[in-house]
Amino acid sequence: METKQIVIITGAARKTGIGLEAARQLCTLGYKVIITAREIGRAQEAAQILIDEGLDAVPMALDVANEEMVKSVAEEVGQRFGKLDVLINNATEFPDQYRIETAEIADVMKAFESSFFGAWRMIKYFTPLLRKSENPRIVNCSSGSGSLQGEEGEYTLVNPWRDFVSVYSLTKLAINGLTLKAAHDLKDDHILVNAPIPGMTATYDILEKAGGRPVSEGAQSIVYAATLSKGGPTGKHFKDGREVSW
Ligand SMILES: NC(=O)c1ccc[n+]([C@@H]2O[C@H](COP(=O)([O-])OP(=O)(O)OC[C@H]3O[C@@H](n4cnc5c(N)ncnc54)[C@H](OP(=O)(O)O)[C@@H]3O)[C@@H](O)[C@H]2O)c1
Repeated sequence: METKQIVIITGAARKTGIGLEAARQLCTLGYKVIITAREIGRAQEAAQILIDEGLDAVPMALDVANEEMVKSVAEEVGQRFGKLDVLINNATEFPDQYRIETAEIADVMKAFESSFFGAWRMIKYFTPLLRKSENPRIVNCSSGSGSLQGEEGEYTLVNPWRDFVSVYSLTKLAINGLTLKAAHDLKDDHILVNAPIPGMTATYDILEKAGGRPVSEGAQSIVYAATLSKGGPTGKHFKDGREVSW
């Protein structure tokens, strides 16, 4: 049995993404982090960046839209490490922004396939390994854009960024519901399930130009939820280490 705490992060290979930065911060805290991406080459490249920094990262190929692949990665993690301490559902599809009338339903379904059903699949197949942890945590990366309420001036479902119906924000609304339901279902297993929001973060040029915060700051909300102590909060939304409303 592995002695270090094991984390798996989905969709963590983008160099300017929150996933890779959250992995870096967790490795720095002493965790072993499994960096996953749809293509093994990208996972290896991303993990190597952390390994070159002296950190404990392991690459694996994982497409969360592929049920067989999720199942077989769960088996591999079980065989190699015997448990999982933290599952971070970071993978997200950002489809184009639409109005309801002009949306391509196939694009809407593709976004839900990765962002929502992908997270559900991960929870389904990794829960048996999480039960073997002393302090299991599930982190569903959400976004204020999927919230009904926000702080003054924040973008939410009812105060959207730009005048669009965002498929992305609807996937996050669904993720928030999944988080509440999973937190309830897994309470007796002492698995903490939370949905932190990073705030607008400069992971793409467009977000940088819109005033997004540095990636190192955006990742901190994810790391906060990933490092909660045993018996900590569950079924909550966090930003910058404090609970916020849905
Ligand atoms: N950036 C922000 O302002 C912001 C704000 C609020 C919340 N968030 C949330 O924080 C998380 C990270 O954000 P980010 O901006 O860093 O996102 P990102 O890197 O663009 O997206 C995450 C990754 O998901 C991967 N992905 C998509 N479908 C997948 C699938 N089926 N299987 C595996 N991986 C898949 C993408 O892979 P490819 O690289 O191959 O496309 C991408 O690398 C997301 O959940 C996002 O919703 C971000």
